[in-house]
Amino acid sequence: MHSHDSNLLVKLFLLLILTLIAMHVSDPDVPSALQALAVDGHFNFHDVSSAARDFGHRYHFQPSAILHPRSASDIAAVVKHVFRLGPRSGLTVAARGHGHSLQGQAQAPGGIVVHMESLRGGETRVEHRGESPYVDVSGGELWIDVLHESLKHGLAPKSWTDYLHLSVGGTLSNAGVSGQAFRHGPQISNVYQLEIVTGKGVVVNCSATENSDLFYGALGGLGQFGIITRARIALEPAPKMVKWIRVLYSDFTNFTEDQEMLISLKKTFDYIEGFAIINRTGLLNNWRSSFKPQDPAQAGRFDSDGRTLFCLEMTKNFNPEETHIMEQEVEELLSRLRYIPSTMFQSEVTYTEFLNRVHVSEMKLRSEGLWEIPHPWLNLLIPRSRIHDFAREVFGKILTDSSNGPILLYPVNKSKWDNRTSVVIPDEEVFYLVAFLSSAPAKSSPSDRDTLAHALKQNSRILNYCGKAGIGMKQYLPHYTTQEEWRSHFGARWEKFSQRKEAYDPLAILAPGQRIFHKALPWS
Ligand SMILES: Cc1cc2nc3c(=O)[nH]c(=O)nc-3n(C[C@H](O)[C@H](O)[C@H](O)COP(=O)(O)OP(=O)(O)OC[C@H]3O[C@@H](n4cnc5c(N)ncnc54)[C@H](O)[C@@H]3O)c2cc1C
Ligand SMILES: *[C@@H]1O[C@H](CO)[C@@H](O)[C@H](O)[C@H]1NC(C)=O
Ligand SMILES: *[C@@H]1O[C@H](CO)[C@@H](O)[C@H](O)[C@H]1NC(C)=O
Ligand SMILES: *[C@@H]1O[C@H](CO)[C@@H](O)[C@H](O)[C@H]1NC(C)=O
Ligand SMILES: *[C@@H]1O[C@H](CO)[C@@H](O)[C@H](O)[C@H]1NC(C)=O
Ligand SMILES: *[C@@H]1O[C@H](CO)[C@@H](O)[C@H](O)[C@H]1NC(C)=O
Repeated sequence: MHSHDSNLLVKLFLLLILTLIAMHVSDPDVPSALQALAVDGHFNFHDVSSAARDFGHRYHFQPSAILHPRSASDIAAVVKHVFRLGPRSGLTVAARGHGHSLQGQAQAPGGIVVHMESLRGGETRVEHRGESPYVDVSGGELWIDVLHESLKHGLAPKSWTDYLHLSVGGTLSNAGVSGQAFRHGPQISNVYQLEIVTGKGVVVNCSATENSDLFYGALGGLGQFGIITRARIALEPAPKMVKWIRVLYSDFTNFTEDQEMLISLKKTFDYIEGFAIINRTGLLNNWRSSFKPQDPAQAGRFDSDGRTLFCLEMTKNFNPEETHIMEQEVEELLSRLRYIPSTMFQSEVTYTEFLNRVHVSEMKLRSEGLWEIPHPWLNLLIPRSRIHDFAREVFGKILTDSSNGPILLYPVNKSKWDNRTSVVIPDEEVFYLVAFLSSAPAKSSPSDRDTLAHALKQNSRILNYCGKAGIGMKQYLPHYTTQEEWRSHFGARWEKFSQRKEAYDPLAILAPGQRIFHKALPWS
């Protein structure tokens, strides 16, 4: 056969497949079949467009229905119903935490979206006696509420994300990384137990000792093995106050050496991050004029005067009665660092104010109409041995400014990441989280640069560079569209990952928006 003819055949075949999928997906019986299920919560079949949006604002797949569950059994009933329809039904189910995904990961084209926040405010129980205090929360709970609940007992979770209006189930399906991860590991290293609805519609408790394969699989598992309905989160005594410090570097080597030194110390800061400020002018006065100590938030708006600067950000927890000791410890640590002496920004804020700091920016951006816009974010994990190559190429060559959003950059230690979980990380003792957190506001005039297209192009240049230079990078909050790419992302871990899929969600019903596995086609 001529290749031309076979191309045509392939196209016709694809068209046929798509038509069949569309027919199944828009099955008119979905509402009546679901309504016949005895659930305590309710379904919404009409106003479903909210479930076709996320923080990325780039992918919009309409589901057929939204389930507002009242309990784990509601979710189990729905998944079991879909499971019983068998592989011939195209129906899928996606848990939606707070919808802060970037590329439709919490969406279910034509399927059922489970609004996990409906489980919020359920029973939250803090256990504060004994050696290892914990809190039991719903998978749909937001971290900000977990914080408020545990603070009532003088306790708080150990490991965080930078932003707290994210759901417990959503961050535990990824990893949950912030400036505490160097010491405590990511959030998935700080969980004792999960309650999960599997892809067969069965409710299972799991932990390191009970159903441990499902427990570790679900942590960092991208929602592929079950829906997390409850989680038991490790707590520690909460400090009242935080000393919050930012200092600036112009030399990348000094910056990263200091970061790495700080994360390796036993007695060190409680939170260590950093970010790059590239070629920003005219926002503050010239940086060379010396500063009085100022609010750390100012450092992020720093004028880098056409150059690239690096900001090291640290906090030290304390209670008011120990201010003196804290100050001595901070001074001792700062004396070992090589930042530009005139650039120290510091303040003292409450623990909650510090942890909830991004929410302040959110409110401001919302008021300017700059929150619900496309976010072409790119999050990478870069092995320590290649971070200098990476920085040399990306800062200044590919990126000529950082005005579209922050660029976070900080090291963590692999020993704090449990290799039994599903999360994929570089194969090196220390690796860096490098997060390009771009916003793409609409053009205000036709001659303006198309910020979305521009950011996406930069992202793909960064990814291409990593591939060509063999950086050994892994994506965090990974996004791929073909199974080939997913296999390469997982590498040696692919076999385990797909075995777990076969065991816990054999029909590939769950979290279709990750596009790792595809529900079997109707005739297979
Ligand atoms: C402003 C902002 C700041 C952020 N900062 C950080 C940060 O500092 N560190 C960090 O690690 N991440 C950070 N993130 C990323 C965040 O972890 C992801 O967006 C993550 O998806 C959590 O968001 P969500 O709870 O809305 O989950 P969703 O987007 O709703 O869901 C994410 C994925 O998990 C699945 N899922 C959701 N709930 C469950 C559940 N209960 N059980 C099983 N699967 C589920 C969904 O189907 C989807 O596939 C940030 C995101 C934003 C928008
Ligand atoms: C899971 O454990 C909790 C208590 O830790 C219990 O209330 C719940 O019923 C258990 N669920 C199942 C399915 O065993
Ligand atoms: C880096 O640190 C060293 C040692 O403190 C110092 O001599 C050097 O000037 C620093 N480099 C830059 C560019 O700041
Ligand atoms: C990483 O952690 C391991 C195990 O605790 C430790 O031996 C090593 O020194 C750490 N490396 C750095 C750079 O902190
Ligand atoms: C800084 O930005 C300007 C314009 O935005 C650009 O022309 C210049 O090349 C940039 N400088 C560097 C060092 O990237
Ligand atoms: C996980 O780590 C342990 C020890 O830290 C090691 O013995 C084991 O081989 C590792 N497993 C995998 C799959 O890498």
